[in-house]
Amino acid sequence: MGLLLLLSAALLCRYFQSGRVVNAMESFFIDSITLSIEPHTDVPRNTNVTLRCKVKVIQGSEVLSREYGLYKDNEIIYNKTTSSSEDFLYHLPEVRVSNNGRYSCKISIKGQLKTSRNKRLTVSGLAEPVLRINQSSFSEGEEFSAWCSAPGETGSFIFYYYDNSEEIQLHHGNHDTSLAKILLNDVGRHDISCSYSVVLKSEPVPSVGSNTVTVAVTELSITPVLEISPQENIYEGDRLRITCTVSGFLQSSQNMQLILSQENRMLIRGQSDVNYSMMAPPAAPSHAFQCMLMVGSVKKVDTKTVPVKELFSVPTLSMRPPEVFQREPMTLTCRSDRVAHERLDGSQLNYTLYPVESLIPRGSGVFFGKALLNDFNYTCAAQAKGVEKYSKTLTVRPKVFVSTPEISVTGRVILGQPFQILCQSVRGSLPITYTLFKDYQQIGKNIVQYPRDKALFTVTINHTREISKFICEANNKNNNEGILSGALNATVIVPLGQPVLSVVPNQQELSEGNNLNLLCTVNGTPPITFRWYREGDAQPVSTTTSDRNFKDYEVSVLSKQHSGKYFCEAENRANNKVRSKLISIEVHMAQWKKALIWGVVLLVVSVLVLVGCVLYFKSKRDAVSFYDGKEGRVTNGTRGSMASLPADISNRSSYSIPATV
Ligand SMILES: *[C@@H]1O[C@H](CO)[C@@H](O)[C@H](O)[C@H]1NC(C)=O
Ligand SMILES: *[C@@H]1O[C@H](CO)[C@@H](O)[C@H](O)[C@H]1NC(C)=O
Ligand SMILES: *[C@@H]1O[C@H](CO)[C@@H](O)[C@H](O)[C@H]1NC(C)=O
Ligand SMILES: *[C@@H]1O[C@H](CO)[C@@H](O)[C@H](O)[C@H]1NC(C)=O
Ligand SMILES: *[C@@H]1O[C@H](CO)[C@@H](O)[C@H](O)[C@H]1NC(C)=O
Repeated sequence: MGLLLLLSAALLCRYFQSGRVVNAMESFFIDSITLSIEPHTDVPRNTNVTLRCKVKVIQGSEVLSREYGLYKDNEIIYNKTTSSSEDFLYHLPEVRVSNNGRYSCKISIKGQLKTSRNKRLTVSGLAEPVLRINQSSFSEGEEFSAWCSAPGETGSFIFYYYDNSEEIQLHHGNHDTSLAKILLNDVGRHDISCSYSVVLKSEPVPSVGSNTVTVAVTELSITPVLEISPQENIYEGDRLRITCTVSGFLQSSQNMQLILSQENRMLIRGQSDVNYSMMAPPAAPSHAFQCMLMVGSVKKVDTKTVPVKELFSVPTLSMRPPEVFQREPMTLTCRSDRVAHERLDGSQLNYTLYPVESLIPRGSGVFFGKALLNDFNYTCAAQAKGVEKYSKTLTVRPKVFVSTPEISVTGRVILGQPFQILCQSVRGSLPITYTLFKDYQQIGKNIVQYPRDKALFTVTINHTREISKFICEANNKNNNEGILSGALNATVIVPLGQPVLSVVPNQQELSEGNNLNLLCTVNGTPPITFRWYREGDAQPVSTTTSDRNFKDYEVSVLSKQHSGKYFCEAENRANNKVRSKLISIEVHMAQWKKALIWGVVLLVVSVLVLVGCVLYFKSKRDAVSFYDGKEGRVTNGTRGSMASLPADISNRSSYSIPATV
């Protein structure tokens, strides 16, 4: 009893000494788990491979139940529960590429889990594919069976089939053999082979190519036959009979179909023969017809072309006269220029004008009526033997007669200078011919072709009355009289002649305090702008515009400063500036000033005479001597008429008073 107690105590002691904090109930822990691959991780095909899962468990004597799980690419592939503590083994006999993957194992003991690291197994080498076929010779359109197998391989596959190295089919499957039904449409020899890939989680592994099997495709003995009658001398509108049949014999009871078409247009389809009747299409060097035979996927074609001759040409629609004015009579003619006379008598051709009610028929293809006010479209058709052809559209554009032209001038009319006369009609179809007359003599002609153009005539006149002698004529129809305008009404500007400047009233004497009128007179058309200048001044002393041919400039109180030479300048719309001759204006001293001066002068002279006399008598006694005095001068004012020519005025005369001793 004492020994038993001792033993229990020792056991307890040892338990607590281990230092591991575990549930008092647990008597084990999983120390490690490793997976190894034997004999190697990289092995050739057919190797017997073993996966070994080694677990180290720290435990007491208790027998533990171990749950193993084996994973490939994270998916469980096997599990087992055992109480054995030996390594857990998993056999992969004669491995295949499909065994490639990452393996791991997992252990679970009473809820405790541990998983090993992943180990990768790589198997190299795939079996060579083998191709078999059930038949090596057949005719077009027939199918054959081909089996491709990957002997001994496992996993998921993709099988590829090749016809002369070109991939033709692809099949997925989980069996090592796949069946393909192959149809070869090209006649001749074909080399058929196959290959496969094993599909893995990671990527497919391709096999090498299989054996090659040569097959021969022979032509079907059956062909389509196209017949068209008649075979030649076909004209538009003729009836064509077309048959599409099959020649030869078809062993298999495959469905066949015939299709008759013209270019890309299907005419009819049927089983073993088709008949078709139609009117010959429009004339052309060749119309292609096809008879197409379809057996399964085989297509055979017979093609024939037929030339179709023209029965009559497309009609043309023309108008007479070529140009027509509103409401004028006109004739439209519809005519097919070429007719196949061997088939068609010209009188068999029927012409119709559209719109039908627009004009009255006058014999075959001739239609008569009056032009409308606006543009109108006509078409015509020619018909014979069921064939109908339409002309191009003819647009009749009735012309508009010119309206009475207006005659006017552009800009100013200045006598003696060239100016332009415009002749214009508001309405009228172009081209319009404008003719200018002066005194009923034609002096110019102008043809206006485009709306932007104008009929302008450049003329010059030398008398104002000539302006009203111009008239013009507009005409837009040949062999027709034109329409005359009214007479030209325009203001003629007469350029200015030389102006004359005069003093008014005609004054001989101009004294300080008087008033002065400088009158400027000129010939030419008003309004006229007058300017008066004093010689030497840049600015005029006065400027004014008048509606008459004269104007005066008035100075009301004259002073000495007004003296000087004056001229006047005139200007009108003829744009010529003209100036007068100079006239001199001399303003005299006032009368009372003169009187005062004379008095003083007389006094001085008297004194001088007196002194002279005294000196004379004195010198007579002494010797003979001379005194030479200076010449003095007094202006006597102007002479002649101020209103007369300024040339006279400027020649003023003067005299001097010699101071004689
Ligand atoms: C693989 O194991 C099988 C039996 O499962 C045996 O017949 C075969 O000879 C073994 N192959 C090799 C290469 O050891
Ligand atoms: C070969 O296979 C094809 C398609 O499966 C079949 O139509 C044909 O009758 C077969 N030929 C023979 C000789 O069995
Ligand atoms: C086509 O015409 C031929 C002879 O003209 C005739 O034997 C055949 O039955 C016709 N076929 C059809 C589908 O009308
Ligand atoms: C005439 O036909 C032309 C086109 O061909 C069209 O543009 C025009 O508007 C037509 N005129 C009338 C008056 O119908
Ligand atoms: C000339 O035109 C003016 C105004 O432009 C007009 O007053 C005059 O009556 C016209 N003369 C004639 C003869 O038409």
